[in-house]
Amino acid sequence: MTEKSAKKTIAVLGTGKLGSILVQAWLKAGLLDAASTHATVRHAERAQAIGEKLHITVGTNNVAAVQGADIVLLCVKPQVVKDVVEEIRHHLTPQQILVSVAASVSTAEIEAGLAGEVPVVRAMPNTPCSQGAGMTALCAGKFATLEDVAIARALFDVVGRTVVVDEKHMDAITGLSASGPAYIYIILESLAEAGVKVGLPRDIATLLAAQTTYGAAKVVLETGDHPALLKDAVTTPAGCTIDGIMELEEGKLRVTLIKAVVKAAQRAKELAHNS
Ligand SMILES: NC(=O)c1ccc[n+]([C@@H]2O[C@H](COP(=O)([O-])OP(=O)(O)OC[C@H]3O[C@@H](n4cnc5c(N)ncnc54)[C@H](OP(=O)(O)O)[C@@H]3O)[C@@H](O)[C@H]2O)c1
Repeated sequence: MTEKSAKKTIAVLGTGKLGSILVQAWLKAGLLDAASTHATVRHAERAQAIGEKLHITVGTNNVAAVQGADIVLLCVKPQVVKDVVEEIRHHLTPQQILVSVAASVSTAEIEAGLAGEVPVVRAMPNTPCSQGAGMTALCAGKFATLEDVAIARALFDVVGRTVVVDEKHMDAITGLSASGPAYIYIILESLAEAGVKVGLPRDIATLLAAQTTYGAAKVVLETGDHPALLKDAVTTPAGCTIDGIMELEEGKLRVTLIKAVVKAAQRAKELAHNS
């Protein structure tokens, strides 16, 4: 363990939906302990409620939170990043690592707002981190070393899978895997509705839809086989599946999903710059 990775004091600035999910998951995994986790939100009444829920110190003072933290996780909305960076800029040192999960905001923009050569790592996780099944992509800012990226990556490895990418891919990743759970929930909900339509009780239909989605994803991840080949293996000549697939093709499921990701990725490019 190096000097930086031996310590696990973290400041989470912006403990909203994603910040809370990550803190809860890290506490549960034993990666952090409550005493060395300092979190902030904007509103004092929210601070109290989240503090009671997560059993950690939650305040509204970002400057106080970052002091002494090894890792500062920036988890506010993209439009708020500039203000928070401005607030903490003289209180961060190159010995700390700033990890930003904000969509749309580049490492260069964050670095430009900081006073010194503070390592910045940009991460794009998703909400299934809550179940240890997250997908997080990370990229390094210009002052972040391989070790800094490894330290940030280790945080997200605990709550799912991780990949290190070139920063030019981050908006695309936002449109695919960060927004992706919402698309999959719609697909799941639709499959469950379909089950109800063909006579299944709703709870059983939802279970079948969710486990089938989970199982198919697990096969892709564990075999590495191309999804098209796996689909072919389910599709018996003149069987039932091909009839279902014809309906999907007629309904343009593929192109609709492609367009959804393209739109979300485009939005990710502009989010921080015009709300
Ligand atoms: N949600 C996702 O699935 C997801 C996935 C990947 C990345 N992200 C990124 O994660 C970030 C947070 O998203 P979210 O969905 O968690 O949003 P959120 O639920 O709205 O949380 C934002 C939090 O920031 C706090 N905040 C606002 N201004 C602040 C300030 N000046 N100082 C400290 N805290 C402040 C808010 O406090 P109050 O509660 O008091 O208002 C709130 O708790 C965004 O940048 C987003 O792009 C989200």
